[in-house]
Amino acid sequence: MPEGQKCSVKEITLPEPEQKKFDGTVFPLILSPNDEIENQFFIDSTGKAISWVQNELSNIEAQLLKHGAILFRGFPITCPSDFDIFVKAFNYEALPYVGGAAPRTLVVGNVFTSNEAPPDTLIPFHHEMAQVPNFPNVLFFYCDVAPTEGGQTPLVLSNLVYQRMVQLNPSFVNTLKEKGVKYTRVLPNGDDPTSPIGRGWQSTYGTSNKEEAEKKALELVGSIEWLDDGCLKTITRVLPAIREDTRTGKEMWFNSVIAVYRGWKDTRNSPEKSITFGDGSPMDPKTMDVLENVLNELAIDFRWKKGDVVMVDNRQALHGRRSFVPPRRILAALCK
Ligand code: FE2
Repeated sequence: MPEGQKCSVKEITLPEPEQKKFDGTVFPLILSPNDEIENQFFIDSTGKAISWVQNELSNIEAQLLKHGAILFRGFPITCPSDFDIFVKAFNYEALPYVGGAAPRTLVVGNVFTSNEAPPDTLIPFHHEMAQVPNFPNVLFFYCDVAPTEGGQTPLVLSNLVYQRMVQLNPSFVNTLKEKGVKYTRVLPNGDDPTSPIGRGWQSTYGTSNKEEAEKKALELVGSIEWLDDGCLKTITRVLPAIREDTRTGKEMWFNSVIAVYRGWKDTRNSPEKSITFGDGSPMDPKTMDVLENVLNELAIDFRWKKGDVVMVDNRQALHGRRSFVPPRRILAALCK
């Protein structure tokens, strides 16, 4: 920002567990507009948000890399289409939700509902689409209707999880590194809204044609099998569970081990089969408890306010969802 120009946003702080400090760096960074931002933000009905975001883009990206997530609070983003405009101002390539497990509905532009799993279901920590090759680098979440009870979107820095697991169970971490992981999921024949992973193969692959779905599935996973009831079983190739973020050189807990172990559970899927090491050997339940505790200890849990936008570096941070009492409406946009 040029000298003499007033900073258009200020940093605000929240008490733990809404925000935490690790090695002197806050997580997440929370930005709130100063009064004068209205003018910079609302250009006209088609260009709003664009000038502020575009002027600050390199700064915002540097902050995202440093902090892992940014909460934009109090910005004039009042409806889903404002959110869509805000996200589009970043000029990132939108990523279609191909191969993801959650049932989602398109709202406007590139904005989707977030996982529509039932309110009492807790969605465990995960990197978005860690089980498919083309995962999003940046996620945006928007609070359209704030929950009054629960419903937080907890966030955790992946490198901290890695470090802590190395301390607590180095042999598990070594095995993960050596063998990698495999994910197995049975997709229903048509969407099943009663399941957190109830996205049918038709909407997962955007077609009701079996051959087409098969082709798309095979691009994303290693092997497939059609079941007698019309469901589709997909088994991924062996995927790495720990990845270095080449931008920082830090090791990331880049996997969906706990999400799958705790969350891929419905009438078609069972955790022990859904996630295994690359050689097919199972995960130890006690280690899964340790991992879950580590995630919860390190997590931040901010309370959503109407109009909040959270920008998450999907390579650096995991996210989840706490259970809640309705109403709650959190929308999402995924970007490459
Ligand atoms: Fe997610």
